[in-house]
Amino acid sequence: MAALRPRVVSGMRPTGRLHLGHLVGALRNWVSLQDQYDCFYFVADWHALTSEYASTGGVTGYALDNVADWLAAGVDPERSTIFVQSLVPEHAELFLLLSMVVPIPWLERVPTYKEQQEQLADRDLSTLGFLGYPLLQTADVAMYDGRFVPVGEDQVPHLELSREVVRRFNQFYGGVLVEAQPLLTPVPRLPGLDTRTMSKSYGNTIDLADDAATVVKKVRQMYTDPKRIRADIPGTVEGNPVFMYHDAFNADAAEVDDLKARYRAGTVGDVEVKTTLARALNAVLDPMRERRRAIAAQPGRVREIAVEGSRKARAIAAGTMARVRDAVKLQY
Ligand code: TRP
Repeated sequence: MAALRPRVVSGMRPTGRLHLGHLVGALRNWVSLQDQYDCFYFVADWHALTSEYASTGGVTGYALDNVADWLAAGVDPERSTIFVQSLVPEHAELFLLLSMVVPIPWLERVPTYKEQQEQLADRDLSTLGFLGYPLLQTADVAMYDGRFVPVGEDQVPHLELSREVVRRFNQFYGGVLVEAQPLLTPVPRLPGLDTRTMSKSYGNTIDLADDAATVVKKVRQMYTDPKRIRADIPGTVEGNPVFMYHDAFNADAAEVDDLKARYRAGTVGDVEVKTTLARALNAVLDPMRERRRAIAAQPGRVREIAVEGSRKARAIAAGTMARVRDAVKLQY
């Protein structure tokens, strides 16, 4: 019975197309969690606005494109609730009520607050919305009594803040909200094609929607061991992006071991290492392409799934907010 399973809640900001980093860092985990948990996966479009408020035109397009990728990866709308944050405006109401009890220094102390302001120095992130980012995230999870939040390391401080806020809220209003735990995804951090952090803005990603030929072309451009200027020079496997990708995606472990051994010995060329990698990547992406094609054959289907999921989410959110208003003594 789905309702008896503990809830998992996680979201993604629709700020671009999804790439292999999203697949290993989140989606694979989202898919497997569906077997054990009652999963709520959502498009955090308001969170996207905290940094993209000056150009919001791409948000809804990315939102639906991202959901299509989730479905292609195996997130199942029959088993999980897929929704859009801004279609469940109760999130904003809970955020507002949480904002009454959270001291501003708690938010200023969250490490990502200053880090992101420094990293995205081209925009003005001295806004209330940006400061409130982790508080909105708290509302996202508490709304569904989420027990577990599958996230990467970088999100741990947000969840710590969430737990503190929920505790404080509960001190004032009784144990009305549930504290959530991070469910850390133990994944190797994958670098981009050029060894820098994988990022759309660096143009160093392989996207989940790339076709097979594009994958071959991108893999050819991948950085390898820079000291290895000829195929007969022994190379370094550790920290080499091509081998990190082999480790993450090539299902044929014996092939990977053999390539590594020959690379270290200086008896394999980059071409072979890369050709096998492109083949392995396309083997991972092919079933996703197939599923995406099937979904695309039904125009409006992705939107329909997101809207229908949001309706379901909203019914639960309405229940939570009735309980919360009651606890805050705002029931008229
Ligand atoms: N902050 C998350 C990220 O950047 C996205 C997010 C928003 C989220 N709300 C959430 C993740 C709630 C988990 C739960 O990855």
